[in-house]
Amino acid sequence: MGKVAVLGVFVVDLAFRADRMPVMGETFLGNSFAMNPGGKGSNQAVAAARMGADVSMITRLGADDFAAMARELWTGDGITAEVVEDAGSYTGAAHIFINEATGDNAIIIAPGAAAEISPADLEAARSVIEGADVFITQLEQPLDAAMRGLQIARAAGVTTILNPAPAVELPREMLALCDFVTPNETETEILTGLPVANAEDAARACEALKSLGVARPIITMGAQGAYLDGFGLVPAVAAGKVVETTGAGDAFNGGFAACLADGMAPEKAVTYACAVAGLSVTRAGAAPSMPQRDEVLALI
Ligand code: RIB
Repeated sequence: MGKVAVLGVFVVDLAFRADRMPVMGETFLGNSFAMNPGGKGSNQAVAAARMGADVSMITRLGADDFAAMARELWTGDGITAEVVEDAGSYTGAAHIFINEATGDNAIIIAPGAAAEISPADLEAARSVIEGADVFITQLEQPLDAAMRGLQIARAAGVTTILNPAPAVELPREMLALCDFVTPNETETEILTGLPVANAEDAARACEALKSLGVARPIITMGAQGAYLDGFGLVPAVAAGKVVETTGAGDAFNGGFAACLADGMAPEKAVTYACAVAGLSVTRAGAAPSMPQRDEVLALI
């Protein structure tokens, strides 16, 4: 069982299914509502744990009912919580619109206490990071915290993955700390200025990411699959009708981290990660949609 340290955010997803998005000033009736655990970091931790990894989750929570939901989720999946509890703040939430016809989503996230995760929190979790096989983070918490985590991991020889979501322009010194960076098409365009519609575009964007210091980019391309630099396009694995795409990228990242931590070669780990994502989109919710290892092996 490989060890994965995740730095990231937990929020409660408040998901509304409707036929379209309202325009500003408009109110109309949606089709349904669900409240589920989410947050990119926590979703990735759950995906990795369900793939069999020994996972630690580094974050901040409030001292409220949403925090209790986080702790219950992680206990259920055997995830070790490395949490700073901030009673003066609140555990975050995300407003999620899901298009009923396509399963696609649009999200507003308020990270709450997790917006205060600091480099000092990462110093406090240093031994957890140094003891991991893989360190993975995203960009829902402050950049300087992600940077410190990557620095600690890199100095200890721990494999580093940055999922640059939500995308912002990143300093070169941060990208140079990453063994793998896993943007989707939109995030790739923000990082490189290059649009990605197909494998040729992805190959070009990978070169641009490498010129910014990334060791090995992986561009996730939704229904097309994922483009691994130096290998090519690994096709998506269809596992059934698409119900909701929220958390699909997290499924990919968590699955990839777990497989790498287990000693798998990146080429094979990407194939497994595509299967984790393929299963996740056939189910509603983000964290609840993450498949168990047996399901992934059966699909592969
Ligand atoms: O990647 C999906 C996640 O992004 C959702 O669970 C939502 O919480 C947002 O953070």
